[in-house]
Amino acid sequence: MKNLLVTGGCGFIGTGFIRYLLLDSDFDGRIINVDKLTYAGNPDNLTDIEKSNPARYVFIKADICDPDAMTHAFKSYEIDAVCNFAAESHVDRSIVAPDAFIKTNIEGTFNLLEISRRNSDRLVLFHHVSTDEVYGSLGPDGFFTEKTSYRPNSPYSASKAASDHLVRAYHKTYALPVTISNCSNNYGPYQFPEKLIPLIILNALEDKPLPVYGDGRNVRDWLYVKDHCRAVWEIMKRGTRGQTYNIGGRCESTNIETVSMVCDLLDEMVPKADRTSRKDLITFVKDRPGHDLRYAIDCSKLEKELGWAPIESFKTGLRKTVQWYLNNSQWVHRVKSGEYLDWVRQHYGNEEGV
Ligand code: NAD
Ligand code: DAU
Repeated sequence: MKNLLVTGGCGFIGTGFIRYLLLDSDFDGRIINVDKLTYAGNPDNLTDIEKSNPARYVFIKADICDPDAMTHAFKSYEIDAVCNFAAESHVDRSIVAPDAFIKTNIEGTFNLLEISRRNSDRLVLFHHVSTDEVYGSLGPDGFFTEKTSYRPNSPYSASKAASDHLVRAYHKTYALPVTISNCSNNYGPYQFPEKLIPLIILNALEDKPLPVYGDGRNVRDWLYVKDHCRAVWEIMKRGTRGQTYNIGGRCESTNIETVSMVCDLLDEMVPKADRTSRKDLITFVKDRPGHDLRYAIDCSKLEKELGWAPIESFKTGLRKTVQWYLNNSQWVHRVKSGEYLDWVRQHYGNEEGV
């Protein structure tokens, strides 16, 4: 993989992946990062990478749905592998406005597959990054395995399920070399503060209410983002072509437990002047429609076949995450104030916005 096209590289996990490949892994090729820079894409995340790796990192602002732009990128940079992170990723947004999810997640993936097929003489791998949400919801017991039937419940998860099926079909029909990974909830540095953990950290620091949907007993299986990125890279290198791999942290936690853990960490690391606990800010709010009760991943295939295991426990990863948000107040300020979007508009005339 000499010229790796990473899509959505300015988002949360794409950023982690590019940083991991260039700073910590054995990858020795060049990354071509294609990102549309929606509200979720933050060029600040990779400014240092761009400066320190001019020969190994290229950024292209483009939409994965645009056939001409993607064809041009494939040809100009002699793309021989793809890792597709680009997506609309937030479930709540998909409930209010599903259109962009259908467009980017389904049509965008289809467009990339078509161009990959046309360049299949050079292409060694199309890796598609997906989610455990395609499997639907679990009751109190059991785990999602790679054999679990798809039963997506939100427009987001349905759009991701459709894209997974397309990727698999391109392998069966056209022998395109593909791998797919379905991962559980990620957390860590650079996550946009619409998602639960960064939202709770930043609200708590501002003494704002901490919204917990329903009764707070929904369970998520948390994985530190760098562990996810390492798993994706191992699958890309050594995973069997045409196969799916589940990735998860074996870190199940109810939302109320997760929010309480964040409050406890903040109370310890930056105690309030009056010594009251941030837990006092927890506010139960109206539930999300179609809210999946429980996700839990069986990742034994990945562990057995590729020898991957998460490094961080939820406890160690959450502490690192809280510390990162405390240390990066400038990043937080630019995201919360929208300054990062002003920069994008000035440079590219991007009208996306939040
Ligand atoms: P994110 O929302 O933080 O980032 C998405 C990125 O894609 C942004 O940089 C955005 O600008 C870009 N993008 C959106 N539409 C685009 C388009 N049409 N063309 C080019 N770029 C576009 O998302 P994330 O949390 O980093 O998730 C990345 C991938 O991982 C997604 O495919 C998501 O489904 C999957 N995933 C996420 C999680 C999680 O917990 N966040 C877990 C499992 C899988
Ligand atoms: O499971 C993988 C998925 O995890 C990814 O595919 C998605 O891209 C990612 O967004 C995430 O989806 P969730 O819906 O699980 O993440 P979110 O952070 O939105 O919510 C986590 C849990 O917390 C969920 O049960 C809803 C709840 N929640 C969320 C928010 C934003 C709250 O209780 N309050 C909130 O304010």
